[in-house]
Amino acid sequence: MKILVTGGTGYIGSHTVVELQRDGFEVVIIDNLSNSRAEIADQIAAVTGVRPAFEVFDLTDREKTAAFFKKHNDLAGVIHFAASKAVGESVEQPLMYYTNNLCSLLNVLEGMKNNEITNFVFSSSCTVYGQPDVLPVSEEAPIKPAESPYGNTKQISEEIIRDTVSVTELKAIALRYFNPIGAHDSAEIGELPQGVPNNLVPYITQTALGIRDYLRVWGNDYDTHDGTAIRDYIHVVDLAKAHVVAVQRMIESKMKSDFEIFNLGTGTGYSVLDVIRAFEKATGIKLNYKIMDRRPGDIEKVWADPAFSNKELGWKAERGLDEMMASAWKWEQAYREKFGE
Ligand code: WQD
Repeated sequence: MKILVTGGTGYIGSHTVVELQRDGFEVVIIDNLSNSRAEIADQIAAVTGVRPAFEVFDLTDREKTAAFFKKHNDLAGVIHFAASKAVGESVEQPLMYYTNNLCSLLNVLEGMKNNEITNFVFSSSCTVYGQPDVLPVSEEAPIKPAESPYGNTKQISEEIIRDTVSVTELKAIALRYFNPIGAHDSAEIGELPQGVPNNLVPYITQTALGIRDYLRVWGNDYDTHDGTAIRDYIHVVDLAKAHVVAVQRMIESKMKSDFEIFNLGTGTGYSVLDVIRAFEKATGIKLNYKIMDRRPGDIEKVWADPAFSNKELGWKAERGLDEMMASAWKWEQAYREKFGE
């Protein structure tokens, strides 16, 4: 069975392609390489022995997207990752975010509808919850007004999907990610650095490698055990595996409704200092960091209630923080050797 993975040379996309191939699926990738590299298709082949089919174009191009679905009208499902996802950048460039993230989604949904492809998995985010009033946060938690255009594109996308499902044959599963980190244990794929990292873990590994002088810890005056903000970090391979489970659920018609939503987290929250300690323990490297003021737009603390995902999907995050840190560090070193940057 053939699955389309949009954004398939990206961080989570490439890990998901590996798990799909491992599960016997044929994969075709669409990516515009705006935030990834074509070589990742070869890296995927280095892990699985199979190079995925790969088409490079922008999903905001309606004609090209329509032509793709006409050619691949035998798809068993679509996993849609392709989107811009930097919170800060979205504040500076809202129109680019709304155009890219929403037009891509609309073109994919139209292509599916016109070719009677009905199984759609959407890459969503816990960002839709904002700062939850109750922790851990379950799928029933209220959606808060978005704190950024990026977060708003995820909320609007879920609404577009819900409305489309209600009047077409489309079935959809939205997966709300918490904080994906780490890399495949082969160190053949991982998070590609694009400029100065916004996210915590790539900044940690680049600091450990000496590319950054020190890590800035954004605030230690939060109402948490050590004052630094808490997140639910989840290993990217655990996250990728959940996508395969979701696709299988749809193909085997096990869904309980036409639009299902699942939180993909571990259920455990770690503070920034917890993550730093875990990195130091996993690598034996003392990390250089400084406490700074809070980063505007950051929420204080969030972690998932994964009970529904665990029960309904029969999926559970298995990899601990130490493995997340060790794999991130291994990738950081391998990446430099492999790509020489
Ligand atoms: C984690 C914690 C920072 C960098 C974002 C998006 C979310 C998702 C994941 C796409 C926070 C602190 C960070 C640094 C730090 N992206 N930090 N120093 O902001 O939780 O989530 O990325 O889906 O949608 O919002 O992730 O890794 O940026 O930050 O102290 O140099 O680490 O303040 O508490 P975040 P993050």
